[in-house]
Amino acid sequence: MSLNFRLSASELGTLDTDCLVAAIFDDGSLSSAAQALDTASDGALARRVKQGDANGRVGKTTLLHDVAGITASRVLLVGAGSAGEMDPQRYLKIVNAAAKAIAQSTINRVHSSLSQLKVSGRDAAWALQQAALAADHAAYRYTATRKDKHKNEPGPREYSFSAEAGLQPALDRAAGIAVGIRAAKDLANLPPNICNPAFMAEQAQAFAAAHPGIRCEVLEREQMESLGMGSLLAVARGSANPPKLVVLEYRNGGDAKPLVLVGKGLTFDSGGLNLKVQGGIEEMKFDMCGAATVYGSFVAAVEAKLPVNLVALLAGVENMPDGAAYRPSDVLTSMSGTTIEVLNTDAEGRLVLCDALTYAQRFEPAALIDVATLTGACVIALGKHAHGLMTKHDDLAAELLAAGETSGDRAWRLPIWDDYQPMLDSAFADVANIGGKSAGAITAGCFLSRFTEGQRWAHLDIAGTSWDEGRKGMANGRPVNLLTQWMIDRTS
Ligand code: BES
Ligand code: MN
Ligand code: ZN
Repeated sequence: MSLNFRLSASELGTLDTDCLVAAIFDDGSLSSAAQALDTASDGALARRVKQGDANGRVGKTTLLHDVAGITASRVLLVGAGSAGEMDPQRYLKIVNAAAKAIAQSTINRVHSSLSQLKVSGRDAAWALQQAALAADHAAYRYTATRKDKHKNEPGPREYSFSAEAGLQPALDRAAGIAVGIRAAKDLANLPPNICNPAFMAEQAQAFAAAHPGIRCEVLEREQMESLGMGSLLAVARGSANPPKLVVLEYRNGGDAKPLVLVGKGLTFDSGGLNLKVQGGIEEMKFDMCGAATVYGSFVAAVEAKLPVNLVALLAGVENMPDGAAYRPSDVLTSMSGTTIEVLNTDAEGRLVLCDALTYAQRFEPAALIDVATLTGACVIALGKHAHGLMTKHDDLAAELLAAGETSGDRAWRLPIWDDYQPMLDSAFADVANIGGKSAGAITAGCFLSRFTEGQRWAHLDIAGTSWDEGRKGMANGRPVNLLTQWMIDRTS
């Protein structure tokens, strides 16, 4: 369940809520909401700032209790930096810091005035949407396999925002996107002994059954055999969990050609016979974040009722070593007919995606985008902030980069020039599944480009961006926000 969102135009001083959120600037001045509260409290806020109890450093939060003259039991002051122009990235820092402080408290009902801050180049609907998504992101709790279900950490349930009633559609849309982001996080965070390819397929089928007009088809191993998906099937062979290729269809865009999203859904990537022995294997339940976020973007589009035609393909496979497992030096025949020499069974994502991308072409995509935790090299290149974007289409790159900027869920482009293609040469097949030591994210993209010729195709490598690092690191739902924004931009 996502948070309960509402708009409220009521006066702040007399609002019945557990916490009011307002901004202060680093010159000691107050946002207009904070000013209203200051007036209602006979200058209590300004005195706190003057005493140095609260300051305007970006993202600094100060929780005040029992402010005289104000009905709400608490006021959360959030530093907003300079009182001048505010760029979108700063605004996102502010709403995220506030949301985090709230989520770590015992506060239940919140009213935020932050959505009223003026952000350069962005409108009020944007500010509202981002504030709502930040709130829902921080309030997310993983509960599925915890007996305690966070019983001692209640967290917020209701959020209202200062905004005029005309912004209700923007808030409804944000709520829909929040549901999609939660769906992606929940699926990705589940352990691989629960979330295997069959489980992913069941989730998709249950969603389709609960939403009229959604079509869901699950391709089984036998169907994939008839289609000649020799590459995907080779990866699946070493696992006791059979592969599933999930097809979800949502038609709400008239007779337009569909947008097709393809997600890498390795519910666990052990590396196969090239077993992951250098560390990091325990994080490889997240190797289905591509499929999880494609699913989440699909859920978001449906929940937000976006006027698009959308096809989501989730390529669910587990990469394991056993007696039937595919081997380094095997030569596979992909659905496209291209033969592939396996030089490393741990470069399995591209082997799964190439067949899913070939299959995707029967939907005649207006645009085809795959999303994958594809390479460690992308993590080295771009770290945790930017998704790696690869495409030969400058216009599609521009659309996706812009959607990243707008949503704050940013990508950065890497080249997939043909100059890199010889790195994939093989003596025994049409192509090898690995390049050399260098440019690992790019050669993976180049590999995929061989299976998407003639398509308006882009590849997002989300290996570094889709879950937070560390032992308690969780899936964060990226790039659902980017992809949803891209769909919105294409229809408005
Ligand atoms: N799923 C991994 C990529 C990955 C690594 C994602 C670390 C997130 C964090 C992928 O299947 C993989 O193992 N790639 C290899 C490719 C190599 C063998 C060419 C890699 O990046 O090391
Ligand atoms: Mn791998
Ligand atoms: Zn992988």
